Amino acid sequence: MRVLVVGSGGREHALTWALARSPLLTALYVAPGNAGTAQVATNVPVAAMDLVGLVRFATETAIDLVVVGPEGPLVAGLADRMAVAGIACFGPSAAAAQLEGSKAFTKQIADEAGIPTARWERFDTPASAEAFIRHRGAPIVVKADGLAGGKGVVVATTLDEALAAAAAALAAGPVVIEECLIGPEVSLFALCDGHDTLLLGTARDHKRVGDGDTGPNTGGMGAVAPVPGFDGAAAMDTFIRPALHVMARRGTPFRGVLFAGLMLTAAGPRLIEYNVRLGDPECQALLPLLSSDLLPLLVLACTGRLGDARLEWRAGASAAVVMAQRGYPGPLDGAGAIDGIERAGLVFHGATRLEGGQIMADGGRVLTLVGLGPDPGAARRAAYDGVAAIDWPGGFCRRDIGA
Ligand code: AMP
Ligand code: GLY
Repeated sequence: MRVLVVGSGGREHALTWALARSPLLTALYVAPGNAGTAQVATNVPVAAMDLVGLVRFATETAIDLVVVGPEGPLVAGLADRMAVAGIACFGPSAAAAQLEGSKAFTKQIADEAGIPTARWERFDTPASAEAFIRHRGAPIVVKADGLAGGKGVVVATTLDEALAAAAAALAAGPVVIEECLIGPEVSLFALCDGHDTLLLGTARDHKRVGDGDTGPNTGGMGAVAPVPGFDGAAAMDTFIRPALHVMARRGTPFRGVLFAGLMLTAAGPRLIEYNVRLGDPECQALLPLLSSDLLPLLVLACTGRLGDARLEWRAGASAAVVMAQRGYPGPLDGAGAIDGIERAGLVFHGATRLEGGQIMADGGRVLTLVGLGPDPGAARRAAYDGVAAIDWPGGFCRRDIGA
């Protein structure tokens, strides 16, 4: 099979790495990719949001399967355009990708499907939002309705903070305001074919930039998988199957990875959000635990035949530690050469590029070091052994991933 992966982060390098091992593969391209994907596939200089360019490349190159990493192109309709071109695409249609593209849509589906989630309301005007916030009081959570690159949510601890967040978000579009939940978070990943679904695994992300969960939110500074003591199979019945059922009934079946962000509250697990893709860095932690061939699984998901599939996993645990460029998630100042990658074990590249044979940092989240082991402690030690082998003065990582 001839496969095109869309995206350029650590998640896409991990997908590329997993697909490259498939005996069914005959050609593997990544658009646009990074210095890591270039080692196992052919990078193509087409941006992930250049939908026309991606369809043209896939058509001209006779691609059999497109695998989309990030949410942006899915929400914009890449899977729909590939369908029109007659090319199989792993990832939801634009209509189904609204599960990530609109917070209000997600909440409607959750209510329709009977999925436990925070109580919520949607507002279009500052006056109505302000009245609701004053009535409910802080803490309260304010969410921009649309895609915001991880920056659309404010967990406001004071009334003033909530009012300011609502005013700022309403300048761009509708807001969802919801009850503030408390508890540890878990990410649940499900492979979906529109009707059937298989558990891909559970993971715990570390979103804050600093040790001990301090500092600003990021795309994710590290992840561990699976989450000890959490029953992912049971959670599929509560948080995935009912949503798939409602999406199919509405005529917009969900195909791809459905990623449920859950909070384990004192009253039981609650849905925080859906994403319509694998997480980054959760994907880098999960895929090395999969011993099944990923490629036929994605084909079965695309063709509505996941009922025929089986997943096999390696025993043990995985830890993924992100090395970011100094300054991340603010202005960056640690660009420069990176050495030691070949001594660091399992490494997935994010924002890297090649300059005359030298690997250079080229953005915020630059490398993910992955450790595997019989238990979480061993996995964590293996990941940090990898970090120790990296020679990059401009980089940093959290020291407490999985601690
Ligand atoms: P999201 O962009 O929806 O992933 O939200 C980002 C983060 O905001 C989540 O990972 C939670 O930590 C937090 N969050 C979102 N909704 C709530 C809520 N209802 N109560 C408490 N925290 C929340
Ligand atoms: N690491 C969180 C995400 O990918 O959404």
